[in-house]
Amino acid sequence: MVCIRPATIDDLMQMQRCNLLCLPENYQLKYYLYHILSWPQLLHVAEDYDGKIVGYVLAKMEEDAAEPHGHITSVAVARTHRKLGLATKLMSATHKAMEEVFSAKYVSLHVRVTNKVAVHLYTQTLGYQIHDIESKYYADGENAYEMRKYFAAPPAALAKKAAALTAAVTGVSVSTGAAAAVAASS
Ligand SMILES: CC(C)(COP(=O)(O)OP(=O)(O)OC[C@H]1O[C@@H](n2cnc3c(N)ncnc32)[C@H](O)[C@@H]1OP(=O)(O)O)[C@@H](O)C(=O)NCCC(=O)NCCS
Repeated sequence: MVCIRPATIDDLMQMQRCNLLCLPENYQLKYYLYHILSWPQLLHVAEDYDGKIVGYVLAKMEEDAAEPHGHITSVAVARTHRKLGLATKLMSATHKAMEEVFSAKYVSLHVRVTNKVAVHLYTQTLGYQIHDIESKYYADGENAYEMRKYFAAPPAALAKKAAALTAAVTGVSVSTGAAAAVAASS
């Protein structure tokens, strides 16, 4: 059985190990430490029955921005534990803390344009929309989608543009009215 819980300082090395096994974007331990000391409510782990960390979400607040918002720095689930709903649960736990503890208006993230599984997770499962395409965002030159999920209704003009961009990329159209509000609250 796998349990989703807030991360502690003792989890950081296992989180870093999981990150190294799952993603090319890696961070020094001090960057994990910076996150947990600044925003302890925003880091969550998936822990297997034997105490092994099999998934994590590392997130922060962008408090100096015009609109205070959360940002997902990294999320990953071990290959052995994928397609069990763990990333969905980890992300949802962090979204809840961003909104309730830090009054975040929205949460943002970057994802490689070729990472189809993650794009599905964000747009179809979690209600994110694509707000921009950042050229050569990654060290190897790949472009990134800049995505956002608003916790309340976003400004109308922004919602319309994001819905159009998301539909063009995913082939799934999202209404900027009721459906967007449902997605934002999920
Ligand atoms: C992306 C990742 C975090 C998803 O983790 P996960 O725990 O398997 O995701 P979930 O089980 O919560 O699945 C979420 C959705 O994605 C779908 N999905 C997950 N893996 C899939 C796959 N390999 N193929 C097709 N769909 C997949 C699920 O069916 C589910 O869709 P649904 O809600 O429409 O049913 C995981 O694949 C991973 O760690 N990848 C490597 C690291 C990475 O890319 N991180 C994101 C960087 S931005």
